[in-house]
Amino acid sequence: MDGKKLYIETYGCQMNASDTEVIFSILGKAGYVRTENISEADVILANTCSVRDNAEQRIMGRIEQFRLQKKKRKGVIIGIVGCMAERLKDRLLDGHELDLVAGPDSYRSLPGLLESIAPDRPAINTMLSHEETYADISPMRTDKNGVSAFISIMRGCNNVCSYCVVPYTRGAERSRDPYSIIREAREVFDAGYREVTLLGQNVDSYLWKGDDGTAVNFAGLLRMTAEVSPSLRVRFSTSHPKDISDEVIETMAAYGNICKHIHLPVQSGSTAVLEKMRRKYTREWYLERVARIRSVIPDIGLTTDVIAGFCGETLQDHADTLSLMEQVGFDWAFMFRYSERPGTLAARKYPDDVPPEEKTRRLNEIIELQNRKSLENYRKKIGCELEVLVEGPSRRNPDELCGRASDNKMCVFPAGGHRTGDYVRVRVESCTSATLICTLQE
Ligand code: SAH
Ligand code: SF4
Ligand code: F3S
Repeated sequence: MDGKKLYIETYGCQMNASDTEVIFSILGKAGYVRTENISEADVILANTCSVRDNAEQRIMGRIEQFRLQKKKRKGVIIGIVGCMAERLKDRLLDGHELDLVAGPDSYRSLPGLLESIAPDRPAINTMLSHEETYADISPMRTDKNGVSAFISIMRGCNNVCSYCVVPYTRGAERSRDPYSIIREAREVFDAGYREVTLLGQNVDSYLWKGDDGTAVNFAGLLRMTAEVSPSLRVRFSTSHPKDISDEVIETMAAYGNICKHIHLPVQSGSTAVLEKMRRKYTREWYLERVARIRSVIPDIGLTTDVIAGFCGETLQDHADTLSLMEQVGFDWAFMFRYSERPGTLAARKYPDDVPPEEKTRRLNEIIELQNRKSLENYRKKIGCELEVLVEGPSRRNPDELCGRASDNKMCVFPAGGHRTGDYVRVRVESCTSATLICTLQE
């Protein structure tokens, strides 16, 4: 396979971005070389997401473009890997002229699968695993700046949120050996990286049990990672409101290099809707966790995910979501219209009965409120001094740099001789609802 060129397009969450790096590493060992230019690729893959219908539709549109490449250049292999491969399995082979379908736990078999492909003989592996964590594989980093790396600490999900397809596409939850995680964190630090983000669908339920009876929970893993170096920032995603523990909150407070940001998806502010979503917490529980976090870490950056128009959501439920968002005042939110996913509990049990235009109306109200809250929160930072890790040149002005503060807010500031990977002290002068505009603090 020496020198065959491999092109991967990645969709969906950070777990997928991290998996793409695992795939490059596995296929790199088998002789494939990464290309970012689709028109010279011998193998073209989409690492896909099934979380909402429009995500899948967009990918199917892209597959048509892949087919054009195949028509233009004989012998090109095209395939779908990741969550859509797992969800749709061999149904994907009908009518799309795909050569390969491979689910998220099958990536070690990719070299063999690719070799076995012949005209009209596609290869498929969608077996899920209870053990696979790719622990021993050093991902080939594909980030642009060489500063911030994702490290996958667990796979799958054992929750059954009724709207969510992830447990079906990613299988059962399993935690990765902490020593392999720390080894990876050291590797990237030695390579010049200054930030790692520990990834899992529900990091608070991370639990690794050694053969000798010892156990490491998420707070323990955070401590171990933070101790790799005080100059290595540690971030993590995603926290689950039902599982985030006082021990985790206190560990965050105890280490200066654990960033003061929590992504804590609320989904809805109505206890009745949360119950139907099977989130296993109430509005009051969520607010108590936020209060607890803020009492230990007053300058915490909080972000969230919200779903508008879930099955049976009343106008009062929607108003409850708005009032929760008003009360908490998130820095930022990912906001979605509910999209029914085949096979999930909600699809089987509850009619998707909020009309599309009403979902859109509610979503727009949520977005409008969030934009106002974001601007308020960013404004509160004016006059503050912050430590920023430089990620690279700012998008708008090559004489400026950009980077995040500990609480995850994006800052732009004059370059002043600083370089990517430096820690810089800045002072916030003004802002938009998504950026802090700063001067250098010498
Ligand atoms: N494990 C994470 C979220 C993974 S999916 C957690 O538990 O929070 C990312 C986000 O997509 C979810 O938080 C949710 O807001 C959204 N999402 C998931 N399924 C969805 C659906 N069927 N329709 C709309 N949004 C959905
Ligand atoms: Fe989906 Fe819930 Fe698991 Fe998150 S915790 S991945 S929303 S099932
Ligand atoms: Fe999408 Fe799979 Fe992530 S469904 S959100 S890519 S786990």
